[in-house]
Amino acid sequence: MFNTKSRVCLVTGSTSGIGREMALALAGQQFRVIVSGKSGKKCRQTAQEISRISGNPHIHYFSADLADLAQVRRLVQQVHDSFPTLDVLINNAGIYSMRHLYSVDGYELTLAVNHLAHFLLTNLLLDSLLKSDDGRIITVSSQAHERGTLDFNDLFYEQHYDGFKAYARSKLANILFTYHLAEKLQNTAVTANVFHPGFVRSNFGKNNGLLRFWARRLIKRGAVNPAQGAGTGIFLAADDSVKSVSGKYWVDKKPANSSPLSYDKGLAQKLWCESCDYTNYVKKD
Ligand SMILES: NC(=O)c1ccc[n+]([C@@H]2O[C@H](COP(=O)([O-])OP(=O)(O)OC[C@H]3O[C@@H](n4cnc5c(N)ncnc54)[C@H](OP(=O)(O)O)[C@@H]3O)[C@@H](O)[C@H]2O)c1
Repeated sequence: MFNTKSRVCLVTGSTSGIGREMALALAGQQFRVIVSGKSGKKCRQTAQEISRISGNPHIHYFSADLADLAQVRRLVQQVHDSFPTLDVLINNAGIYSMRHLYSVDGYELTLAVNHLAHFLLTNLLLDSLLKSDDGRIITVSSQAHERGTLDFNDLFYEQHYDGFKAYARSKLANILFTYHLAEKLQNTAVTANVFHPGFVRSNFGKNNGLLRFWARRLIKRGAVNPAQGAGTGIFLAADDSVKSVSGKYWVDKKPANSSPLSYDKGLAQKLWCESCDYTNYVKKD
């Protein structure tokens, strides 16, 4: 059933929540899945569980703390060394921080993990994705992007940090990045799409005293379980009907409108250039 011709998919943040469910479902659809997360131990356990549940022996793992761009580069090297071709990249890992924290590289943590790390990861893995005859880049954003703004004079909220604003900014960045990337990838066999998974009962935000806050909102807003939240991502990764569809924002497996600001091409271009600088990624066109 599983062979070396199976498609290869890397899912960041696949040790819990929506990412784990996407990895599990794709393992069940004969993908060779690369699990990735912050902790090596958690990655190993998750890969073993996914392999056992799906019956798919081709579940690999590479740990990387996305708050450290050197570890992002190491992850890319590990993928390059083990897989000549990458068919699907799912940029899923994400955080929400009430406190103003910094990445190893000195950037505000939410933007660093949710956007900058995935910007660098995607660009450095593009050569492997371009070798696929059906390459797909899928990024997990959020409806929260609608409240996001970008201020390049204070990108990291040095003045007045607000956890929600920082999160919304990072999720807007996910969409601007995807739209710009899709334009760059026109005339290639690689697509780029972004989606909102719904309001999902996962471990999200539970790291910083948000437990009660989330519990209240979950009850109020009828959150779905992680498997339901993973549905649109699985569809975008594996469904034949979306093979050539690119540059779209998806909700419930359907294209949807993102915020007016997310369609600002000048803003996307500027974010791209700034992200090159912050990540020391040299190709700026
Ligand atoms: N839950 C929702 O309601 C909701 C709504 C809209 C959008 N989203 C988006 O959905 C995505 C997944 O969220 P989730 O709800 O599944 O959350 P989750 O259960 O907290 O899972 C987050 C995943 O990201 C990983 N991660 C966090 N920080 C990392 C880092 N520095 N380096 C590497 N991996 C890291 C976590 O690994 P560890 O377990 O090792 O920390 C975990 O595997 C996020 O992008 C989030 O913004 C979620």
